[in-house]
Amino acid sequence: MFWLIIGLLFLGAFIYYFSIPSAKPHSPSSTKEFTLEELSVYNGKNAKAYVAVKNKVFDVSSSEAYLPGGSYAQFAGKDATLALSKMNMDPSLLNIRQPINEEEQKVLDDWEKYFEERKGYPLVGTLKLD
Ligand code: HEM
Repeated sequence: MFWLIIGLLFLGAFIYYFSIPSAKPHSPSSTKEFTLEELSVYNGKNAKAYVAVKNKVFDVSSSEAYLPGGSYAQFAGKDATLALSKMNMDPSLLNIRQPINEEEQKVLDDWEKYFEERKGYPLVGTLKLD
């Protein structure tokens, strides 16, 4: 009887874990790996708006800033890593990576934290870099 109850508890926990995706929103199994090309679909124009920061892809559709006409619309569907690290909106800094200095790394890490902690910006995947 004891082992039957233990067994049922394990089975219950197992079913719970695999049936509720929101219980493990940041686990690798619930996220997708995006190439830059796949990411570009999510430019806020006819689909959702996704932005990559470091190796993380966030769904930022809940903010008007990334939709057409928004202040940061040009980041939608792009890897904004270098632009954010340099605090520079130049489009040539999108979708490319370059070595950055210590100061820029700190700025970038703060942005990563901002996106992670901001409500309504679910992590939807990781960025596949060549
Ligand atoms: C004159 C310069 C700038 C001003 C006045 C400014 C102003 C602002 C304001 C008011 C917000 C808050 C918007 C909101 O929550 O709706 C914001 C957010 C933001 N800014 Fe700027 N900004 C400037 C430059 C930049 C630059 C150079 C970058 C990066 C290259 C940048 C990236 C961002 C990002 C990523 C957000 C967060 C948007 C979000 O909540 O997802 N900003 N900025």
